[in-house]
This record gives sequence, structure tokens and C-alpha cells, in this order.
Amino acid sequence: MKSIQVKNLYKSYNQENFVVKDASFQIEEGEFFVLVGPSGCGKSTILRMIAGLEEISKGELYIGERKANLLSPSERELSMVFQNYALYPHLSVKENIIFGLHVKKVPKKERELRCYEVAEMLQLTNYLHRKPRELSGGQRQRVALARAIVSRAPICLMDEPLSNLDAKLRAHMRAEIKQIQRSLGITMVYVTHDQTEAMTMGDRMMVLKDGEVQQVGTPLQVYNKPNNPFVATFIGNPPMNIQNGTIRGGERELVLEGMKPYKLKQDYGVHFPERIMVGIRPESIHLANENSAADERYIVEVKNVEILGNDTLVSFLVGTKEWFMRLNGQWYITIGDRIPISFDFNHVAIFDEGTGELLKAPESREMFSLRKEAVSR
Ligand SMILES: Nc1ncnc2c1ncn2[C@@H]1O[C@H](COP(=O)(O)OP(=O)(O)O)[C@@H](O)[C@H]1O
Ligand SMILES: [Mg+2]
Repeated sequence: MKSIQVKNLYKSYNQENFVVKDASFQIEEGEFFVLVGPSGCGKSTILRMIAGLEEISKGELYIGERKANLLSPSERELSMVFQNYALYPHLSVKENIIFGLHVKKVPKKERELRCYEVAEMLQLTNYLHRKPRELSGGQRQRVALARAIVSRAPICLMDEPLSNLDAKLRAHMRAEIKQIQRSLGITMVYVTHDQTEAMTMGDRMMVLKDGEVQQVGTPLQVYNKPNNPFVATFIGNPPMNIQNGTIRGGERELVLEGMKPYKLKQDYGVHFPERIMVGIRPESIHLANENSAADERYIVEVKNVEILGNDTLVSFLVGTKEWFMRLNGQWYITIGDRIPISFDFNHVAIFDEGTGELLKAPESREMFSLRKEAVSR
């Protein structure tokens, strides 16, 4: 298994503007590393530069100990899975799976052995003689996966491999890919625009915007302490609510657009600039009750309600912004209701309005754990 190191990586397709700017990151051996960001932010470009399919404009790439900028794709010893699977339509499933082994001149017996092993692992044994067109989307996806695994390359690169699948199959394949990666111990670089995949699959993720790295961290680090409002709203669904505001009266009073002023009760040990942005996660907003302090109660008018079975999502306008709150359980709330809400200011994030920098993270949440005796690992 191998690590990957990228130092000050740049890419320009036209010698004018850079679509990847100064990206630096390290991927550990055996790690599941997710590149996530909106469409067009440079994820595939970075992946293709690691693969050797795209020239590096500036910067350094190391695969294992070896500088890899100028290595050919095959010298980099990695396998790749694309969104469109890129299966050969005229070849059978089996031939598709072992195609790369032919090219690498792996002996026939070994090819067969590896093919059956991986087919077993991915439940493709009964389909080995079919053509790709005779398979469902999920099965085709598995063939693409099998072809990558059979190569036994220490690094696997995947570019949005699940985007063509329906929601249920996607959820299933998320778990499957993660388990296979674990059991083989491969180093995985996985590209997606889907924050759910990044949260659920990655050991760590790197969030990108306009070719620039916004944050690298474990899913919970990124969720709990987003570096800026972009990350805060990109990771998490529904997104973190963000509101512009001002701090007045020498850090004593916070005024959010569309809300009554709030007296800050605590010294947060940070000097806040006058103009800030406040962020609060939907699950940190509650229905106010008699116990809520009067200055932490806000009356809002319900704009939309979605009952998700176990949770109820309620949205309302604060100033001109739509906010979301997530309530546990099933609630009789209808559009147009005026309801009292409250939230604890210890649970808000505060960002600098100018630079976007995180000045105060929400208070850390409780991480639940089982008693030691209850777990065997
Ligand atoms: N071969 C290419 N030639 C010119 N521009 C490209 C090429 N490939 C990608 N781009 C541009 O580079 C930017 C990043 O693209 P890409 O890496 O494909 O983004 P993502 O995978 O995050 O959606 C986009 O603006 C895209 O239009
Ligand atoms: Mg892409």
C-alpha cells in the first residue's frame, strides 16, 4: 500500500487561468480520502493528475517515496474507476474484468484465479459470461469495481463512481466500496460532489471550491468546525443556516438580520470584528418553551414542513433568508403557523464577514460511546 503526497499543485488548461491552485495534501497508506466539492471545482483534474492522465502544470506529486510527476500512468501502479464505468461492450464480464491482466501479461492460470476471487467478492460469479448490456446499472458498476480490484494495485482512484445509480443502490454501494477498501487495505482517492458520500465513506475529506482547498479533515472535524461559510453550507444537509450580523456596544450585543438583538452573555476570548456571519446547524434550533429565556425566543412563520418519518424538517424566513430546523419525531406543524423557536448561542459558529474565517466554533457536542464491557473489537 502506498501514500500520496501533493505539494503546491497547479493546473491550467489554457495558460491563462488556473483551475487548480496551490493544492497541498497528504494521503496516508490505506486511507480512504475523499475529494469533494461542487461541479467544476477541479476534483477530476486533480485525480487525473495523480493518475498521470493529465499533465501537472506546477507542483510536485509523490507516490510512495517516489516523485511521480513524470511517471507514465502504468508506472504509477494504480487502478481507476470512472463514472461511466468504461466497460467494453463486446467483451463478456469476465473478459472485461481480466482485460488489464492480459495487457500486463499475467499468466492465464493466475488471471482465472484472481477473476473468480473478485467475482465472488462482488457477487458477479453468475454473470461472468454476460455482456455489459445484459446487466443492471449496479451490476455494471460492480464489474468496473472488479476490474480495478483485480489489478491488485496499491492505490485506487474513483471518479464519481456512483452518480449513475438510483438512491437505494447508491447507499448499498457506498457501504460495499468502503468494506472492500478496508479489507484489501488499498489507499483510496474518491471523487464526489455528494456531501453524504464524503461524510459516510471518507476517513478524511478535502473540500474544494474554485480549484482551491478549503479544508482537510475527518468528516466530524469538518462538520463540527467548518473553516468558512462555504464549507459550513456545503457539508451537512440541510445546510448550516448562515446569517449576516453586527456586533455592537463593545462586543456586548449581537444583531442578526431579521432578528431582535441578542445580549452576549459570555466573553468568548476572541475579538470579533463589527461585521460577522453567524452559522447554526438545523439540529441546534429547538422549539422554545416556558424555560427558554425571553431574549432567546423568536417567533417565526413556517414556510415549509417535511416529515421524514423519524425527523421533521421545518423551514422559516429570518429576514430574507430561509432557515431550516430539524426536530426529532413527528410534528403537527403546518405552513403559515407562527411558532416560537430558540437556540443556544454557544451552539453557533461565528465567521468574519470579510474573510470568511471561522472565529468561534460551535461548542463541541457530546460524542456518545458504549461502555467498554458492551463492545468487543
Ligand atoms: N480538458 C479540459 N480543457 C479545458 N478545461 C477543462 C478541461 N477539463 C476540465 N476543464 C475545466 O477545469 C475546471 C475543473 O474541471 P473538473 O476538474 O472536471 O471539475 P470537477 O471534476 O470538480 O467537476 C472546469 O472549469 C472545467 O471546465
Ligand atoms: Mg469531475
